[in-house]
Amino acid sequence: MKTVLITGCSSGYGLETARHFHAQGWNVVATMRTPREDVLPRSDRLRLVSLDVTKPESIAAALEASGPIDVLVNNAGLGLMGAFEATPMTTVREVFETNVFGVMAMTQAVLPRLRARKSGVIVNVTSSATLAPMPLVAVYTASKVAIEGFTESLAFELESFNLQVKLVEPGYCPDTRFTSNGSSRMEGLFPEPYAPFAQRIFASLGQPATVTRPSDVAEAVWQAANDTSGTLRFPAGPDAVALARSA
Ligand SMILES: NC(=O)c1ccc[n+]([C@@H]2O[C@H](COP(=O)([O-])OP(=O)(O)OC[C@H]3O[C@@H](n4cnc5c(N)ncnc54)[C@H](OP(=O)(O)O)[C@@H]3O)[C@@H](O)[C@H]2O)c1
Repeated sequence: MKTVLITGCSSGYGLETARHFHAQGWNVVATMRTPREDVLPRSDRLRLVSLDVTKPESIAAALEASGPIDVLVNNAGLGLMGAFEATPMTTVREVFETNVFGVMAMTQAVLPRLRARKSGVIVNVTSSATLAPMPLVAVYTASKVAIEGFTESLAFELESFNLQVKLVEPGYCPDTRFTSNGSSRMEGLFPEPYAPFAQRIFASLGQPATVTRPSDVAEAVWQAANDTSGTLRFPAGPDAVALARSA
C-alpha cells in the first residue's frame, strides 16, 4: 500500500486531496501547521502530522514521524493580490518563504529517502497564473513560476534515480480559504493611483465563467502521482484546462 504526504491539509485543495487519496485506499500523512482532528475521517490509514514548511526543525520532525513515503505533494501556499509598488519586501519574502523555499526545503528533505527507495513522485502545486499573465498578482505569479522552472529542471536530474517530479496547475477556486487566509497580507496594497484599475479587475473577477473545484485538484494530483506517460504538467479545473489549451 502506497503512502502520500501532503502539505497544507487544513483546508482547500490539500484537504480534498488527502480525502481523495484516502478514498482510493492509500496511506495518507495529512500535514497541517495546526493539526485539525475534525476535518478528515478517522482511519488507521490516515495520520495527522504537524508541519510548517518554512521551519527546518518542523520539516525534520514531520518526516521522522511519517516513515517511508512514496509521494510528496507540495500543496501548502500563500496567496497575495495587490499592486506591486505597494507590496512591502517583507511580504514578498513571506510569500516566497512558503511558496518557493518551503517547496524546495521539503523536496530536499525527502529526496534522500526517495532515492534510497529507488522510486517516488513529487507533485508541486503551482497555479493557472503560470499559464497566462493575470493582473495584480505579480509576486504570487513570480513565486509559482519559480516552482515551474525549478520542477522542469529537477525532473532531468532525478530521472536516472527513477524519481519523477510533476506540476499541478489549479485554476481559481472561490471556495477554499485562499482569499480569506491572504486578506490581512493584502491590506494597503491598493493605494489611490491603482484604485480605478483594481476596481475594474475586481469587477471582472466577480463573475468568472468557470471555476475550479477542490475535487478537480485532488483528481489532477491523483493523476500526476500515478502517471506513467511522462507528462509534466496537469492543469486542474475547467478554467485552467482552457488556459493551458490556449497557451
Ligand atoms: N484557491 C485558488 O484559487 C488557487 C488557485 C491556484 C493555485 N492555488 C494553490 O493551491 C494551493 C492550495 O491553496 P488553497 O486554495 O487550498 O488555499 P487554502 O485553503 O488557503 O490552503 C492553503 C494551505 O496551505 C497551508 N499553509 C500556508 N502556509 C503554510 C506553511 N508555512 N506551512 C505549512 N502549511 C502552510 C495553510 O495552512 P493554515 O491553515 O495553517 O494557514 C492551508 O492548509 C496553494 O499552493 C495555492 O497557491 C490556489
